[in-house]
Amino acid sequence: MNTSTRSAGSVHRIVVGVTGGIAAYKTVQLVRLLVKDGHEVHVVPTDDALRFVGAPTWEAISRNPVTTSVHDDVAQVRHVALGQGADLVVIAPATANSIAKMAAGLAGDLLGTTLLATQAPVLIAPAMHTEMWRHPATQANIATLRARGVRLIGPDDGQLTGADSGPGRMSEPEAIHAEVRRLLDSPRPDGDLAGLRVVISAGGTREPIDPVRFIGNRSSGRQGAALALAAADRGAHVTFVAAHVEGGILDTIPDRITVVHAGTAAELGERMTALAADADVLIMSAAVADYRVANVADHKLAKEDGAPVLELVENADILAGLVTGRRAGQTIVGFAAEMPTEAETVIERGIRKRRRKGADLLAVNEVGWESGFERADNTVSVIGPDDTVVATASGTKREVADAVLDAVVGLRA
Ligand code: CTP
Repeated sequence: MNTSTRSAGSVHRIVVGVTGGIAAYKTVQLVRLLVKDGHEVHVVPTDDALRFVGAPTWEAISRNPVTTSVHDDVAQVRHVALGQGADLVVIAPATANSIAKMAAGLAGDLLGTTLLATQAPVLIAPAMHTEMWRHPATQANIATLRARGVRLIGPDDGQLTGADSGPGRMSEPEAIHAEVRRLLDSPRPDGDLAGLRVVISAGGTREPIDPVRFIGNRSSGRQGAALALAAADRGAHVTFVAAHVEGGILDTIPDRITVVHAGTAAELGERMTALAADADVLIMSAAVADYRVANVADHKLAKEDGAPVLELVENADILAGLVTGRRAGQTIVGFAAEMPTEAETVIERGIRKRRRKGADLLAVNEVGWESGFERADNTVSVIGPDDTVVATASGTKREVADAVLDAVVGLRA
């Protein structure tokens, strides 16, 4: 099982460093916005910062304890643990003094040790008077930080704390928040799927009966969404082909993932076939209707028309079609929701299904009236090309997604 501590892709651990500037009051709003996004936020103020906004405010807003000293919580090795576990560090406001300390690599307080211990992206929002910002010492420190990959937002040009105005004003919390989102959404160039084009279908197709009715299924699209997020986090360029997915699922898909819609099995087949032309990995997690209605009514059926007789015709097997048209080097993954029978286990059924369709990998999960659908958790076994189980995972859909992607990476290696 994948033991990643990140869940659902969009939840991240963010350290917000606050240094001693009056703009610290605006950072309260930034922390509020990050917590509202569902992130785990740890505020690390400097001693000076606490003169502007006190620890109780940060604790209440971040919902996490606040310390400034490297001597607190020593048993947890907090002085490095915060930095090591962070997905992103934001310093807002970053004063001229704190920028100088960062450039020099000073580690005299918890923020300093956190910054030296982290490998996460660091974003700073400078705030100071114009003269201090323009001073060659500050500009040299900024150049040093930039050269190390530190990102900057602002400072903005505008009214400063006194009567003066000019560049030096900390960017607004909403702008910093937007930049945080952008940074968290960037594909990781060091991920094990970096540069690969991954196309993932999800949800359930809907086959029309008449203009208002359809034959559908219980697939929510959650597993497919988790796969899309996990693949994107691991560096892939992801296209998410959404058949009908549960409300709210599409809101969890960040902008860096391209979303394409498909209603019926025929539409899904067209989209997947077109996208397959330049994809490296194809994952069919959508639940595709095996049959469509041949005699779709062009008007809404009414009871007075009598009980309808639906004539069903078989849909093309999209997965098998993708395998037939496979381009060199392409990895193709199917999903199968199976129920055991007296004669066969779900694994045995999965093995037969993988062979029949020709997919490289088939992720099999057991379903029943009570299990497998509309739930946050999932259990799957991934069957590989030699008919053995190459991975099993039980846990959140994100954990299952990562296990399936591990199998893809393993196969491609
Ligand atoms: N699939 C597909 N096209 C279809 C039906 C299924 O691409 N017309 C894909 C699904 O997206 C999934 C895999 O095939 O990745 C297995 O789906 P499943 O519904 O279990 O396959 P069926 O062939 O319909 O098998 P069964 O007879 O057990 O329903």
